[in-house]
Amino acid sequence: MAEKRFKYVIVGGGVAAVVLVPGFYVAPYERPALSKAYLFPDGFARLPGFHVCVGSGGERLLPDWYKESGIEIILSTEIVKADLAAKTLISAVGESFKYEILIIATGSTVFRLTDFGVQGADAGNIFYLREIDDADKLIEAIKAKKDGKCVVVGGGYIGLELSAVMKINNFDVAMVFPEPWCMPRLFTADIASFYEGYYSNKGIKIIKGTVAVGFTADASGEVKEVKLKDGRTLEADIVVVGVGGRPLTTLFKGQVEEDKGGIKTDGFFKTSVPDVYAVGDVATFPLKMYNEIRRVEHVDHARKSAEQAVKAIKAREEGRLIDEYDYLPYFYSRSFDLSWQFYGDNVGETIIFGDRDPAVPKAKFGSYWIKDGKVVGAFLENGSPEENKAIAKVARVQPPVTSLEQLKADGLAFAIKI
Ligand code: FDA
Ligand code: NAD
Repeated sequence: MAEKRFKYVIVGGGVAAVVLVPGFYVAPYERPALSKAYLFPDGFARLPGFHVCVGSGGERLLPDWYKESGIEIILSTEIVKADLAAKTLISAVGESFKYEILIIATGSTVFRLTDFGVQGADAGNIFYLREIDDADKLIEAIKAKKDGKCVVVGGGYIGLELSAVMKINNFDVAMVFPEPWCMPRLFTADIASFYEGYYSNKGIKIIKGTVAVGFTADASGEVKEVKLKDGRTLEADIVVVGVGGRPLTTLFKGQVEEDKGGIKTDGFFKTSVPDVYAVGDVATFPLKMYNEIRRVEHVDHARKSAEQAVKAIKAREEGRLIDEYDYLPYFYSRSFDLSWQFYGDNVGETIIFGDRDPAVPKAKFGSYWIKDGKVVGAFLENGSPEENKAIAKVARVQPPVTSLEQLKADGLAFAIKI
């Protein structure tokens, strides 16, 4: 088999690979579109409309751009073996790729209910969402099961965004998750009550505190019912599952230092192995602001970590120094006509402000997280660009707070005057 030599190789053609090489099927695209406009019944997003870097307001990189820039994109090529000592990668069909510098950008994969041995979880029309062909299969099922019943398993990002989009597709939607409120890894009970109220008003049935323990299928093998741990049974033509995932580090196990489930890096995304960098979902990196090491599974960090790694490689080649990564966590989501942003750290006490009536059109509310007398995190629903900039600044500056009552009374005005 042929051997190819490259100065730089990127394994992973996702969001963090805005700069380069091998992914699976298509040139790098903005993955967030898959759970939003890609699934709309009308006015849907399609490639080449959302190739990177449109999500961050950058140039749209069509396949020709890579060619013209001297970058070879090797599609439909899975790397199945990595030998970091020999600086060699081997593909599923036996091609070998030699590199001088490697950037690992393999992203995440989803947990499947079959991984947990859930009975009947291999039935037809049970969907997961990670890659564009997952979304294409779901679209086919939406057409085939027009105006049918959908059960969404999971109450996190996928759960909330997919419940909305299935409702927009005129499905009768029930959402099931084990926790007492949705998006527990970020939302407080107060924040969640707004979104749950809004979703209920749209006709989405929210079933909390239980999990799917089994599925039944019809004669053609397609899912028919979802059995819940609390004894209830829900009818379903389509099931969408979003129960989290894990970073794809298996290829490199035992060859590189890992921490918190990811590949450990420094503030330049260098791993423990010389000439090997890791970025995006797989990287466990120093979050300088909080003096902690963390992994972040969001698109803003995917973009910024890739940029930092490339800057660090270039600086090293030119004998220059650059500043360490100093990331301010930023997460967001959009569904129906809702849109929220969060910056900073969701630790400590919280206060909530603004109008949280889900029946009020374009309700605007927010929350601050306060630790050691300082505001460390800020959340805002329906913020204008200036207001979102203001909450980002608060999370970065971490202003002191003397009275929580005053902070609550000031609400968004507190952020705007920082
Ligand atoms: P990403 O997963 O984007 O890319 C990894 C690539 O590596 C894939 O193309 C994969 O096929 C390839 N790969 C893996 N193993 C390989 C191998 N062995 N050989 C070759 N190629 C290999 N975040 C956010 O902040 N806001 C949002 O709205 C959303 N929305 C959203 C929707 C959906 C449906 C998903 C699945 C995820 C999001 N996210 C998000 C999360 C965000 O998309 C995610 O954090 C980034 O895509 C991570 O970028 P990476 O480049 O690290 O991995
Ligand atoms: P998640 O971690 O956000 O949520 C997982 C949810 O599944 C949790 O609410 C959890 O309680 C629930 N759950 C776990 N086991 C369950 C079970 N057996 N039955 C029912 N529910 C169960 O993960 P996700 O929503 O699957 O998202 C996957 C990845 O995609 C993450 O990396 C996420 O960051 C990313 N993503 C991000 C966005 C965004 O940032 N807007 C949007 C979509 C996806």
